Amino acid sequence: MQHLMSPMDMTVDELEDLMRLAESIESDPAKYAHACDGRILATCFYEPSTRTRLSFESAMLRLGGQVLGFADADSSSAAKGESVSDTIRIVSSYADICAMRHPKEGAPLVASSRSLIPVINAGDGGHEHPTQTLTDLYTIHSLKGGIGHLTIGLCGDLKFGRTVHSLINALVRYPDITFVLISPEELKIPSYLREDVLMANHIPFTEVEKLEDAMPDLDILYMTRVQKERFFNEEDYLRMKGFYILDKEKLTLAKEDMLILHPLPRVNEISVEVDDDPRAVYFKQAKKGVFIRQALILRLLEIA
Ligand code: NCD
Repeated sequence: MQHLMSPMDMTVDELEDLMRLAESIESDPAKYAHACDGRILATCFYEPSTRTRLSFESAMLRLGGQVLGFADADSSSAAKGESVSDTIRIVSSYADICAMRHPKEGAPLVASSRSLIPVINAGDGGHEHPTQTLTDLYTIHSLKGGIGHLTIGLCGDLKFGRTVHSLINALVRYPDITFVLISPEELKIPSYLREDVLMANHIPFTEVEKLEDAMPDLDILYMTRVQKERFFNEEDYLRMKGFYILDKEKLTLAKEDMLILHPLPRVNEISVEVDDDPRAVYFKQAKKGVFIRQALILRLLEIA
């Protein structure tokens, strides 16, 4: 049985294959409308979510399957002190596949080691978020016609942003990717990513503080929110929160065909006036998240 904990669990060939399946689902959803008849997805979410949980549920429902689960730890037996290992043993008898989000890094991995059904990491603390990465890759693949030969700016909270960590891990395996890491000093990427992933793989990257300096070179700008819930004190968060605000004026520096991605939710880092710009694709990106999750469910259940 296969689980998904990190994008590194899939080879580039497997990722490409999954995106082909997502494309087929996107172009002919009716063909897959009963592919998961009689199957159940459990969503075990110990941390807030809108897109990830609902897009998983939408994905399973669109495949003809059914869903059950909980949306916060307080409404599950975690509030009584149950471990994720025990919870997953039980969920294994109630569902065929489980998407789990947890504030503790590694919790879904622990669950997968005790699970009788495939477990998908739907975000573990500040660590990884592989299905957001699948969404991001699929968006880039669809809108840029492939992944490779791109200069990608990652902007905002690169320290705590798990979507950024997973995306870097995935992208270093594609050809000719250059990263521009745009963050304040305090929110730079963790050193393990800089040293063990970027430097170890000889990936070109620069680290800058000003978004304006980076903008003209970028093919993709991946904006992120400052991860309030991972800060130890409110003061630091408030100081960092307004650091980047992408507005129309800053966009005048960008290439005509640059794409703006954001895993969402947005707080204040992209001004709403940008939403109408054709380069702003974050709502499209969220929509594509359903198709790629449909594809993932089919693969992990070994249906397609
Ligand atoms: C992201 C997450 O949960 O890490 N959200 C999402 O799943 N789309 C990004 C975030 O919360 O900032």
